[in-house]
Amino acid sequence: MTPLLLFTLGDHPALQPALLAAAGAEAGHCEVRHFPDGESYVRVLSECAGRRTAILCTLHRPDELFLPLLFLAGTLRELGARSVGLVAPYLAYMRQDKRFLDGEAITSRQFAGQLSSAFDWLVTVDPHLHRYAGLDDIYSIPSRVVHAAPLLAQWIRAHLANPLLIGPDSESEQWVSAVAAAAKAPYQILEKIRRGDRDVSVSLPLLPARTGGTQAAEPTPVLVDDIISSGHTMLETIAHLRAAALAAPVCIGVHGLFAENADVKLMAAGAALLVTTDSVAHASNAIGLGATLAAAVAELEPQ
Ligand code: R5P
Repeated sequence: MTPLLLFTLGDHPALQPALLAAAGAEAGHCEVRHFPDGESYVRVLSECAGRRTAILCTLHRPDELFLPLLFLAGTLRELGARSVGLVAPYLAYMRQDKRFLDGEAITSRQFAGQLSSAFDWLVTVDPHLHRYAGLDDIYSIPSRVVHAAPLLAQWIRAHLANPLLIGPDSESEQWVSAVAAAAKAPYQILEKIRRGDRDVSVSLPLLPARTGGTQAAEPTPVLVDDIISSGHTMLETIAHLRAAALAAPVCIGVHGLFAENADVKLMAAGAALLVTTDSVAHASNAIGLGATLAAAVAELEPQ
């Protein structure tokens, strides 16, 4: 069968070639740029009539990427593509899943409606499902969710001798418990109170008794979260750990958004290392998602 034609929007230096290879897909070519006044210009350069197509586009800067993404998907359809799928390793607008204050937009639902009308299917990685049981609650197209936990656990087993996993809030338990089980490591979940975008408090971890032995015998705290955005959740937790003179923590995020130089702030606050998947391109990417994403795509677009 003719291979899937995979277009890419945004920056995916490692993930794009890995996904193309693992999915046995052909690279689609397009030109996407902005006019001086900021409007988007989109041109499809590959022949796509009758082809199964998909767009790889992580949505960490959704407001900037969304319109070009819709224009590209719409153009593929106008040019006769048989199907148009979306591989969005990071799926934006999942956290506003409730009207917390009167009159607030429930952007998760509106965003899902827009994407569902533009695409035939969706593949993503660990979307922030808190008040929704699954993507089907808000997305009306078939979707597959890739879970990064086995890959995170594999990285931990290969690189850390004595890890103690810490999840910053109750929402993180779903990811942290799965990573801990696969890594055969202990874990604990803290309580978080968020008062504002950058105003977060996290409860004190139950710190293990110091053994007084060699440094190697001390556990390495490993902070695990789905998203590192402003970094304040992890910064708060690091402050507790450093105050208790525990070893410098390793910070692992499935999606490293690192808004407002959060990566620099985390290292300055005492993180030993930042580790993320390549869902969002960043120097901390140590865990590749290409093969796992390809398997999910194959379920929705069998060869
Ligand atoms: C929220 O519930 C998520 O699971 C993350 O904990 C949160 O998005 C992290 O955000 P920030 O890095 O801005 O504290």
